[in-house]
Amino acid sequence: MDTAALPVAGKAASDGDGAATRPRRSMHLLERSQESALAALAAIASYLDSDDDLPVFFERLNATVAELTGARRAAFWRLGARGTLGLQPAPSGFADDSNVYRVRLQLGAKGEGVIERIVFAGETELVKGTSPGLDLVWRDAGLGEVTSSIAAAWRAGERRIGAVAVYDAPNGFTANDLWLLRIVGMAAGLLWQYRESEDDLGRTAVRLEQAMAARRQLLNNIAAGGDEARRRFASALHDDSLQLLTGAELQLERLRLDSNGHADSAQLDQLETTLRKVEDSLRRLLIDVSPEPLQLPTDLQEGISERLESMRLRAGIETNIDCRVPSDMPPAIQAIVMKNIAEALTNVEKHARATSVTVGAEIVDGGVRVVVSDNGTGFVVAESARIPGHIGLVAMRERAQLAGGWCHVESEPGTGTKVEFWIPLSL
Ligand SMILES: Nc1ncnc2c1ncn2[C@@H]1O[C@H](COP(=O)(O)OP(=O)(O)OP(=O)(O)O)[C@@H](O)[C@H]1O
Ligand SMILES: [Mg+2]
Repeated sequence: MDTAALPVAGKAASDGDGAATRPRRSMHLLERSQESALAALAAIASYLDSDDDLPVFFERLNATVAELTGARRAAFWRLGARGTLGLQPAPSGFADDSNVYRVRLQLGAKGEGVIERIVFAGETELVKGTSPGLDLVWRDAGLGEVTSSIAAAWRAGERRIGAVAVYDAPNGFTANDLWLLRIVGMAAGLLWQYRESEDDLGRTAVRLEQAMAARRQLLNNIAAGGDEARRRFASALHDDSLQLLTGAELQLERLRLDSNGHADSAQLDQLETTLRKVEDSLRRLLIDVSPEPLQLPTDLQEGISERLESMRLRAGIETNIDCRVPSDMPPAIQAIVMKNIAEALTNVEKHARATSVTVGAEIVDGGVRVVVSDNGTGFVVAESARIPGHIGLVAMRERAQLAGGWCHVESEPGTGTKVEFWIPLSL
């Protein structure tokens, strides 16, 4: 693990002698401070581009901060939920068996102690190269080895994340070191916030993916759902009603034979005719509700052509097709596309009194776009889109939207109707 600090210029020189050299020296010090600040910011920014995990990043950052402030050790301390300050792995410069790994500082509620003032108010006193009050805090907490220390708030705006501290500078700490530490505390705070929002984003992405999976499942159910309900109805109709009816017809036949011509044969004939009519109508119903071989031809073009051909034969409407879609579209998408086309065509047949209808399908923007247009009566879309009990148009739009697409209907009385929808190819 490479935990070396970033290469930085040596620590700013301590005060020299002679008042004449002061302006030049303070200029020099300022430049040094700026260089140090830039080096610290660069160290923090480097995390954004790196694959480092957090402990590695903090160890590198601590090493950099220690070097920039001339300290032997450095550590970040993080404020926990119960107001406890605990070590943020990993510190720099501490021995493996140091007490630093066990230190927990309970912060008082009133914020009056030395460490509270640093974390909450960003105040650190500096006396002869150290913060004596802070040194005491560390020693009381079990870090007997600490000879000097300063610390600054680790924060993101008003949010307190903890503190950053440096320890044991052979030449003592300066106000510049404190200034640098504050900058580091702020920049590390922003980085922390950025990382948290990245985590949030990751969690949101996972939730979104789960929602998408649920939506895909729902959509597949819808694609198959109507057919399933019809299948159940058709089999109940076939297995129960029609068989009972056949039973009744047989009974009637027996009755006719048993009566030896005594019964009123005209009435029996009439009853037989009625029963046959009931059977015929039930069989027609059975044909109507039987799921068309799943309405899922292997090829969409074939499916549309078949549907148009039966419409032409039944209603005498001239039909045109312009289908330019691949034959290997996902079955669930095909089912949705076909259901919408079927509903649009049924509407043409039922309501439009059209003489011609055209279906066009093509791949656009990663999805299939379909236009069904007729030259019929047309209608006022706003009035007809939500007639109670009439759900065709609404269902078309819902199916498209649920699949992540859209559906528009354009019509006016006297101008024919255009139904247009788009379904993305991947659910
Ligand atoms: N192509 C069309 N030409 C003329 N009128 C239409 C056309 N399509 C729809 N309409 C009008 O819009 C209304 C609503 O259509 P929608 O498909 O929602 O219901 P529906 O066809 O009446 O009943 P269903 O619920 O069986 O589909 C229709 O009743 C009809 O008046
Ligand atoms: Mg309809």
